[in-house]
Amino acid sequence: MLSLLLILLIIGKGFSQIPKIIEKNGRHALLVDGKPFFMLGGQAHNSSGWPGMMPELYTAVEAMHLNTLEVPIYWEQIETQPGKFNFSVVDTLLAKARAHHVHLVLLWFATWKNGSNHYMPDWMKEDAAKYPNITGNTGQPVDSPSPNVKATLEADIKAFTQVMRYLKKADMQHTVIMVQVENESGAWGSVRDYSPIAQKLFDGAVPAELLKPEVLKALNVPVVISGTWQQVFGNRADEYFQAWSIARFIGQVAAAGKAEYPLPMYVNAALREPFGNPTANNYESGGPTDNVIPIWKTAAPAIDLLAPDIYLQGSEKILKVIDLYDRPDNTLFVPEAALNPNNSKYLYEVIARGGIGFSPFGIDDNRPSPSVIETTERLSPFSQEFIMAAPMMRELAEWGFEGKIKAVVEHEDHTEQKIDLGAWQAVVSFGGRGNYEQVNTQPNGKIMIVKLDENKFILIGTSCHITFRPLGNNSGRAWQYLKVEEGAYKKGIFNSLRILNGDETDFGGPRFGAKPVVLQTTLIIR
Ligand code: DGJ
Repeated sequence: MLSLLLILLIIGKGFSQIPKIIEKNGRHALLVDGKPFFMLGGQAHNSSGWPGMMPELYTAVEAMHLNTLEVPIYWEQIETQPGKFNFSVVDTLLAKARAHHVHLVLLWFATWKNGSNHYMPDWMKEDAAKYPNITGNTGQPVDSPSPNVKATLEADIKAFTQVMRYLKKADMQHTVIMVQVENESGAWGSVRDYSPIAQKLFDGAVPAELLKPEVLKALNVPVVISGTWQQVFGNRADEYFQAWSIARFIGQVAAAGKAEYPLPMYVNAALREPFGNPTANNYESGGPTDNVIPIWKTAAPAIDLLAPDIYLQGSEKILKVIDLYDRPDNTLFVPEAALNPNNSKYLYEVIARGGIGFSPFGIDDNRPSPSVIETTERLSPFSQEFIMAAPMMRELAEWGFEGKIKAVVEHEDHTEQKIDLGAWQAVVSFGGRGNYEQVNTQPNGKIMIVKLDENKFILIGTSCHITFRPLGNNSGRAWQYLKVEEGAYKKGIFNSLRILNGDETDFGGPRFGAKPVVLQTTLIIR
């Protein structure tokens, strides 16, 4: 009876279910308030999570029309003295987010920030003997914390545990929906730690979990039952050892945090070039780059997903990266993408693949008092998409989870692209049809198509033209649009603004301009 009363009280107060990630048939959803949710996100600059920076930050949040703000919390601020924790900044972040009706993803800047220890509290930085960095292969100092040191691990676990314990009690309404553990962990400047402690581990046996046949197969190495790192992994041994060591460390930090409060947790990756299998001295070694995903999955089961930070350029590379991180065992989430206007198209790709969020980096200007007009202008390539998607975000998240959406994005060569939809093929071109259209000056066209039933679709896009062809039994037959309506989704219902016809749909089909529009169409065979 008491628990029933408690449940009623909780529902009455609007306290929601804890966010979680679910999987069905290799697709994923982030449940917020019990339903699939897509994070239309934006990340604050590194030094913008301070109370005094909230006005500038929230100017950007408002201009961006996002539903989720990613913002760092700093170990150096939270534990200025060993064992003394201060959550006043977290309180401010929670209060501001609630006042602006956005969710938060908190980024735990702790042992690793872009491969370095720069967010450790001063008392740790000042005790390099106890909390050492790694040593390079010629004994050189490297600006990256060692993942093989127990004291560092224990200190991070202790602090992160406090953070999650505090959040559990301070955030019963789940303003915070995910936590990023560390930031771009790994090491620049050395493929692994060559300190005596690390070397001893490296010369020892590979842990049994990593020797499971399915893990070794996923890493493309021969299945063996035992061996040293060098014996089992050959010329990749140094990197794999570093990846295992870091993933093990961060997995334990996440597990300890989850034992307090099990929010979804992820780790972000400084990517390597996705083609040509480069060696680890070319990128941040030991972080969750695409080649070591199986190691991270094995070493850190408390981490729900590994997420690519997209700063690479060019559609071929970016689409490849999205593909590499969209796996049955890995939920797709882009926690950082360069705030480049041409990157807004990848939002469509992520939604279509059933990803859970997309977030450009550095939404606040990072200069004193930028004007609202400047901020709005700068963010408009993304905010115009978020404005379109926001009223139908729950539907998009659900359709993505169910595999009902397909998308294409314009490549730099503007080539036409085709999407098979069962009974129909969509043909998408990016300008250049005779005298009627110019080729797009920037490759920023895109479209996503939601298949509502065999002949009924929602089309959302910019800077492209679409037409259809019947497939299968109807291949080659005459067809036409029964209706094309422009409108918007609200509370799960499509509200029609107008029927598009005549010039707006002749010559094969509708054209999408620079601003996204939502069309609903039904096709028929004549
Ligand atoms: C990726 C990091 O994760 C961010 O914190 C930031 O440093 C950007 N790079 C670059 O500004």
